[in-house]
Amino acid sequence: MSLTEQPVMQPPLATCTGVGKTWQTDGAPFVALRDIDLDIARREFVVFLGPSGCGKSTLLYLMAGLEQVSEGRIVCGGAEVTAPGTDRGLVFQDTSLFPWLSVGENVTFGLKMQHMPKEARRRVAQEILERVGLSEAIDKRPDQLSGGMRQRVAVGRALALKPEVLLLDEPFAALDVQTRSKMQEFLTQVWQQSNVSMVFVTHDIDEAVSLADRIVVFTARPGRIKTIIPVDLPRPRDTRNKAFHDLTDHLTDLMRDEVDRAFAEQERVR
Ligand SMILES: Nc1ncnc2c1ncn2[C@@H]1O[C@H](COP(=O)(O)OP(=O)(O)OP(=O)(O)O)[C@@H](O)[C@H]1O
Ligand SMILES: [Mg+2]
Repeated sequence: MSLTEQPVMQPPLATCTGVGKTWQTDGAPFVALRDIDLDIARREFVVFLGPSGCGKSTLLYLMAGLEQVSEGRIVCGGAEVTAPGTDRGLVFQDTSLFPWLSVGENVTFGLKMQHMPKEARRRVAQEILERVGLSEAIDKRPDQLSGGMRQRVAVGRALALKPEVLLLDEPFAALDVQTRSKMQEFLTQVWQQSNVSMVFVTHDIDEAVSLADRIVVFTARPGRIKTIIPVDLPRPRDTRNKAFHDLTDHLTDLMRDEVDRAFAEQERVR
């Protein structure tokens, strides 16, 4: 192989180096996260998995720039993260769509803030809603949609600003099992048809294996990275497949100790 044929190593899209977060509660420091070193590649699907209270959401909010790191640094797209930015889209469990705006207006609300003219916004809304399978809903109000549809609008709204990474905090946790599994298929398709990286928080092992290229497993608080598990299974993922089960069994073993530790701590706090 000549030098020119060597694969070009792409720099990671986002990097966490020595990241820690200590909350100040009633004057007492409370260490939520410690020593987080993590690279996220362009177009990679990364899932954060860990017991309740281990700091998954905290790390996501640090990456979003909604909170400041106490130690270390986070870089995204070559720039240090210090505040929210349109390169990082956010989707939460409790989607706060504006109830008085139509679905189309919700999707393009951020573009209105950027002064995009109305007709152009309508075209973007049509294009985005087609991508999330909701073209017919453009003039509906959020309360006319099901929970799953509302989460699709929330994903669409985040995509409308053309982010480089979508940060999703348990976006499907409130949905029933069947809708949730459909939403996982939906998100995989959206991701495959776009150039975005995904960082997806869950404590559901099946959900993690259904979605991820890599699963970042956290320890109980203070959250550290316990291990990173690559998921080398073809998509769409079949939950009945033996390799799928072997992996969920392995992750269950890895999580068991951490869940016990997290539970013991919560009992102490009570
Ligand atoms: N704003 C805050 N001020 C003080 N403590 C906080 C704050 N946000 C989170 N914490 C604490 O930091 C720890 C990590 O919280 P975080 O919400 O990141 O956990 P999590 O892994 O997302 O948990 P869950 O799976 O229950 O959502 C918890 O002990 C939580 O109580
Ligand atoms: Mg959380």
